[in-house]
Amino acid sequence: SSKQRLLVVANRLPVAAVKNGDSWQLEMSAGGLVSALLGVTEFDTRWIGWAGINVPDESGQKTLTEALAAKNCIPVFIEEEIAHQYYNGYCNNTLWPLFHYLGLPQEDHLATTRNFKSQFEAYTKANKCFADVVSKHYEEGDAVWCHDYHLMFLPKYLKERNSDMKVGWFLHTPFPSSEIHRMLPSRSELLKSVLSADLVGFHTYDYARHFVSACTRILGLEGTPEGVEDQGKLTRVAVFPVGIDPDRFIQALELPQVKDIVKELKQRFTGYKVLLGVDRLDMIKGIPQKILAFEKFLEENPDWRHKVVLLQIAVPTRTHVLKYKQLTSQVHEIVGRINGRFGSFSSVPIHHLDCTLDFHTLCAIYAITDVALVTSLRDGMNLVSYEFVACQAANKGVLILSEFAGAAQSLGAGAILVNPWNVAEVASSISYALNMSADEREKRHHHNFLHVTTHTSQGWAETELNETIVEAQLRSRQI
Ligand code: UDP
Ligand code: G6P
Repeated sequence: SSKQRLLVVANRLPVAAVKNGDSWQLEMSAGGLVSALLGVTEFDTRWIGWAGINVPDESGQKTLTEALAAKNCIPVFIEEEIAHQYYNGYCNNTLWPLFHYLGLPQEDHLATTRNFKSQFEAYTKANKCFADVVSKHYEEGDAVWCHDYHLMFLPKYLKERNSDMKVGWFLHTPFPSSEIHRMLPSRSELLKSVLSADLVGFHTYDYARHFVSACTRILGLEGTPEGVEDQGKLTRVAVFPVGIDPDRFIQALELPQVKDIVKELKQRFTGYKVLLGVDRLDMIKGIPQKILAFEKFLEENPDWRHKVVLLQIAVPTRTHVLKYKQLTSQVHEIVGRINGRFGSFSSVPIHHLDCTLDFHTLCAIYAITDVALVTSLRDGMNLVSYEFVACQAANKGVLILSEFAGAAQSLGAGAILVNPWNVAEVASSISYALNMSADEREKRHHHNFLHVTTHTSQGWAETELNETIVEAQLRSRQI
């Protein structure tokens, strides 16, 4: 075909493999990275990523490779212990919390230092495994688009092997203030490697600015309006806010099976206003803060008791990392306490579900919601807020949105922005949202709907990849 060939490289593939007897079952993966990339259709795309499962035997690797090929996916196999230290350790116990301003792990200092070193080594090894697979499938002219904090060494490894490769790197999380990044023992290596890419992309201007100042303060390089310069050689740093594929949601709401679920849910919650949270069960999502704000709202508004429910969909995630296990118990405890306090024989205020929803149910729930609550303590973008807006053309529900989510920069004018740490403020925003006039709801929704339907994931990918290709050409001329 005449379409640009694209290799998307991300730790997470759009499908996760589950062993089913002798064959493989492929299930949709959760998370914003996958959602965003699913909306990218105008390229001849292959995905390269970790299969999400340890497959030690060659025959298993072969059959899984074949099963994934049908989805244009190419698996990266990583040895179990390396994968554990890379994914559960360095990625999700070090980089993820640090990039979201939650600090570095603080367990016993010596143990941490030792773990840190082996986890960092595993991270470099895993990144090499990804580079091997990319090299194997690369064809001249391909654009290679690396994603997220899992793969910060990949640009360097790829350019070392082939300096002509067009390489973009995009971060789906915040990039923190340089004062935070400099805590990381491997702060310089990671920055230098990312700078090997032709183009480095972030969701917001703040993240890009933080990255550039980390490069100037930690590496002593020069920051320019275009990016970072090292001895006359420029790495372009730019802002590309991701979006969703709005039509996927809008069209789903027209399907008879989705309409059936909508009808069922409406019946189930007759007489109630529905508040909704949809989050991976992650520390960054501020789920305890959200639930405590809801409790305060119930405390202060006795008239609303038994007239409002909070549905919290908590998608299980990274369940082998201790912090995530602890969060699960903490949330269950708070939910139990509040349901005990405000529940009755016939109703409970919080429906907390530890589950993954299928796409149709998710759309239906978005559509019947009156108020969506996004209370992230930090969040790269937060696509749940976009998806909610896309599904609210009829209902015109209210979005309460954390000012610490990247989405606050784009949906700020239509949403009620809150500081999730300020439980009293979130509680009063719930009350404001529930009492909002139809007129104001309509205006706010209109503003956000316009944004969500014009800033799509397809547009995001196109602008970023076109610029990557241009930058790669410019850089090759510089040498
Ligand atoms: N999502 C999902 N399964 C569910 C519920 C939600 O895959 O059961 C999706 C949701 O549609 C959204 C993504 O997970 O696209 C979450 O993305 P977001 O940017 O809000 O946060 P992230 O999980 O990437 O931190
Ligand atoms: C965030 C990250 C993604 C990740 C997703 C789900 O969106 O930025 O890279 O894929 O969370 O997390 P998981 O660890 O399951 O891939």
